[in-house]
Amino acid sequence: MSKRVRKVVFPVAGMGTRFLPATKASPKEMLPVVDKPLIQYAVEEAIAAGAEVMIFVTGRNKYAISNHFDTAYELESELQERGKEKLLNMVHNIVPPHVSCVFIRQSMPLGLGHAVLCAEPIVGDEPFAVILADDLIDDGSGCLSQMVQAFSDTGSTILGVERVAREDTEKYGIVDTEGDEQLLEVKSIVEKPKPEDAPSSLAVVGRYILTSGIFAQLAQTGRGAGGEIQLTDGIARLMQREQVFAYQFKGKRYDCGSKLGYLMATVDYALQHPELKEDFKAWLESRFS
Ligand code: UTP
Repeated sequence: MSKRVRKVVFPVAGMGTRFLPATKASPKEMLPVVDKPLIQYAVEEAIAAGAEVMIFVTGRNKYAISNHFDTAYELESELQERGKEKLLNMVHNIVPPHVSCVFIRQSMPLGLGHAVLCAEPIVGDEPFAVILADDLIDDGSGCLSQMVQAFSDTGSTILGVERVAREDTEKYGIVDTEGDEQLLEVKSIVEKPKPEDAPSSLAVVGRYILTSGIFAQLAQTGRGAGGEIQLTDGIARLMQREQVFAYQFKGKRYDCGSKLGYLMATVDYALQHPELKEDFKAWLESRFS
């Protein structure tokens, strides 16, 4: 089996109910952190990890994302006419020429596991990554690059994990592992356990490298927590056949699917932004002095 990860799946068909009404007509993955939508950060992370095929599993608001990664002729010619070279390059080079984008429709939001299964015809029989763009991870080398490196050693499914507060286990898939190394073999996995039932506080966040064996398991996975077809449940089935690892990545994660996490990301990214950081810091400090 190849240990190269060429394809990345971006499930972007969720309802985004926590961000209504902002997500009424546009997916939450289009929410900007400072000046870039979440999905663009995710695609840049995938490209930095060496991926070449971006597969978007879209829902009812699919056009915003496909338009974002498509050529915007009118905008580009307008910017060209006005001599705005820097902006022109910015909108023109969102995706480099060697990278292709594929869009598949998830006709009903039946859950993350179902969204990943929708990508099977494009992924085929090779390992692939999944990035949930609402988990924004700030790390110089890119979280997915770290995981691709680990995958080149193991060739097994790898889940990006981080420690969360015990009282938060109900928001995540939680893994049971032994030890505290960066790469850990997973003994079991459970979706959204109550704190008292959770096997640990190591939570799966939005980064996965999966073998194609996951598709057969997802096809047989029924509805689980929240009445949705859960990726976690598919992975639990896969573990009966294949080794699965958890990877404690380096970098700071922001849960941009929640309002608080999104605001934290906005503040931290603004404080790093070359054009904004000085003025923004001064303004922020003035608010608390
Ligand atoms: P969430 O659990 O965050 O759900 O999905 P959501 O619907 O996006 O947001 P809330 O909870 O209602 O506010 C995790 C990821 O899985 C995708 C979402 O787009 C997000 O990237 N997803 C979820 C799908 O693509 N399809 C689904 O059926 C469900």
